[in-house]
Amino acid sequence: KGWLTESLYMYQGHWFSPTKLISIGTVMVSQELFQANPTDIYLVTQPKSGTTWIKALAFAILNRTRHTNVPTHPLLMFNPHDCVPYIENEVLRTKPTYSDATSTRLFATHMPYTSLPQSIHDSSCRIVYMCRNPKDVLVSLIHFVNKVRDKSLDRITLEEGFEMFCKGVSPCGPYWDHVKGYYKASLKHPTRILFLTYENMKRDTRSNVKRLADFLGCPFTEEEEAKGVVEEIVSLCSFKRLSDRNKHGTIREGLPNEVFFREGKVGDWSNHLTKEMGQILDEITTQKFRGLDITF
Ligand code: A3P
Repeated sequence: KGWLTESLYMYQGHWFSPTKLISIGTVMVSQELFQANPTDIYLVTQPKSGTTWIKALAFAILNRTRHTNVPTHPLLMFNPHDCVPYIENEVLRTKPTYSDATSTRLFATHMPYTSLPQSIHDSSCRIVYMCRNPKDVLVSLIHFVNKVRDKSLDRITLEEGFEMFCKGVSPCGPYWDHVKGYYKASLKHPTRILFLTYENMKRDTRSNVKRLADFLGCPFTEEEEAKGVVEEIVSLCSFKRLSDRNKHGTIREGLPNEVFFREGKVGDWSNHLTKEMGQILDEITTQKFRGLDITF
C-alpha cells in the first residue's frame, strides 16, 4: 500500500510515487536535465518537515530589500510553494536551459542527497536541509495524504501509516536515511550545507533566521536589526500569518492552499499516536541515528 497513490516504488534506495507530485519520473528528468548554478540555493526537506515554512523564510530573507512587508509582498498574496518552485516540477514546467547565473535562484527539492542532480554535487551552490522529528512527520503525513489522495482510495489509518513509516516506506523515505544523507554531507561540507531542525527553528525562530541569512550570504545589517527587520520576517512567515492568508485557493500544482497548514506545533504526535507507537519510533530513531548528533 502506498501513500498518495496505490503503491510507492523504490528508486536509488528511496521510495517515490509513480505519478503524483514528486515522482520517480520527475526525479529522473531532474537528474538528466537540471543544471545548477554556483549561486543557487536549494531548500531540502522530506514532505511534512516544514517545507512551506522554510520556503517562506528563505524567500523573505533573500527578497527583503525588494519586497518590504507591505500588502503587495508575494508571501501575502501567494502560497510559499508558488514563490519557491521544486526543481522536480520546474524542470517539467519550463524545460529550462538554466544559463542565468547572474542572480540567486531559490529552489526546493525533496530528493535524497545521493539522488540530487550531479550538477548540484559538482557546483558550489548552497543547500539548506530542514528535518523534523519523525513522530510529528508521520502524523502530519497521515493527515495530509488523507486530504489529498485520490477519492477512489481508502483513507490511510493511523496503524497502516505507522507500519509503513517504521518499515521505511514513506514519500522519499526511508525517513532516517534521508536525514542521515544530508546530516553526514553537512559535516563534510559545512560551508555548503546547513542542517536545521523544525524544532530548533520553532524554539528560537529569530536566531535561526539570522543564522539562515548569514549562511545565505546576506546577513542582516545593524541598521536592519535596529529597524526590526528580523522580527518582521519572523512574523510574516509565522504559522498564523501564513495559514490565515492561505485558507482559499490552490497552488500552481492544483493542491488546495490550506492543506499545507494544520497545527504547526512541536509534539502534536502525542494527540494521535499511542504511547507504544511513540516508543517504537523513538527506539528506531535512536538506533538509526546512533553516533550522530541529531536531536529534536
Ligand atoms: P502539522 O501537520 O504538524 O501541523 P510541509 O510544509 O513540509 O508540507 O510540512 C507541513 C507541516 O508544517 C504541517 O505540520 C504544517 O502545519 C507546518 N507548517 C506550515 N507552515 C508553518 C509555519 N509557518 N510555521 C510552522 N509550521 C508550519
